[in-house]
Amino acid sequence: MFNDLQKEIIRLKEEKNATILVHNYQIGEIQEIADFIGDSLELCIKASQIKDSDLVVFCGVDFMAETAAILNPDKKIVIPDKSSECPMANMLPVEELRNAKKRYPDAAVVLYVNTLAEAKAEADILCTSANAVKVVQSLTEDQILFGPDMNLAAYVQQHVDKEIIPVPEGGHCYVHKMFNLGDMYFLREKYPDAEILVHPECDPEVQEFADHVLSTGGMVRHVAASPKDTFIVGTEVDMVTRLRRENPGKTILPALSDAICENMKLHTLEKVKNSLLNEEFVVAVDEEIADKARNAIERMLEVS
Ligand code: 13P
Ligand code: SF4
Repeated sequence: MFNDLQKEIIRLKEEKNATILVHNYQIGEIQEIADFIGDSLELCIKASQIKDSDLVVFCGVDFMAETAAILNPDKKIVIPDKSSECPMANMLPVEELRNAKKRYPDAAVVLYVNTLAEAKAEADILCTSANAVKVVQSLTEDQILFGPDMNLAAYVQQHVDKEIIPVPEGGHCYVHKMFNLGDMYFLREKYPDAEILVHPECDPEVQEFADHVLSTGGMVRHVAASPKDTFIVGTEVDMVTRLRRENPGKTILPALSDAICENMKLHTLEKVKNSLLNEEFVVAVDEEIADKARNAIERMLEVS
């Protein structure tokens, strides 16, 4: 059952012929009014397939909305709160990336989608947490500059026979840094039958302790298909909101109920309504940067 504000949003969405794309870390009320909800890769793919909408409302952080804008130069993409940024993306200024490219001229540059558009324009190919290993394996180069997340870089290094060079050195997500091994031991003891799922942005020792390391979309598919009935989820808390809604017969527990991405939470139903009503805030990417970044995004989509 939708509340009055959700009903108003659905009405406005039809009136404006709009599509609402929502990341898995949005609050439950926004997840419920999504046309499509997913992880970064799924949202990229969806954005590349949008055909007949006049307006796209993107409920996620800026790098995700920018990716949608780069893939849809002729469409109006709006974000409900324009200050919804991913701090990890800001950890790799384009100058630092250019310097690293000079130091490693033979390396291929693989960037996580969690990057600024200017950095994307300097990449050979992009990746998300769902396809990072596959993307790196698709390249002929043996040396890979990989950024900005050092934990995803460590995860990839474990799965490929190439040299992964993290850039910058300490790139991380403040939300996934909250998970620690002590809490994991405690949870394992308290729920011995549960499966522990964590995101590759978690520290390597947490990844190693978990039963599965998955993107948020990977967690959705895993929980739906698994015969297990209890899961501990080591990522942003609203992933649990989605998993509980879609798996009512299963027990889904957050590994840490304080693991909240404040940046994702800047979007509210009120702001989504405003976005539709006033067609704001438009996500614009410089044309030259967008053209270069598009090549790296499209190359990733081909590999995926
Ligand atoms: P996913 O692509 O797994 O949804 O991850 C995005 C993200 O920002 C994780 O913090
Ligand atoms: Fe960025 Fe971390 Fe938030 Fe994901 S959870 S959007 S990586 S700050």
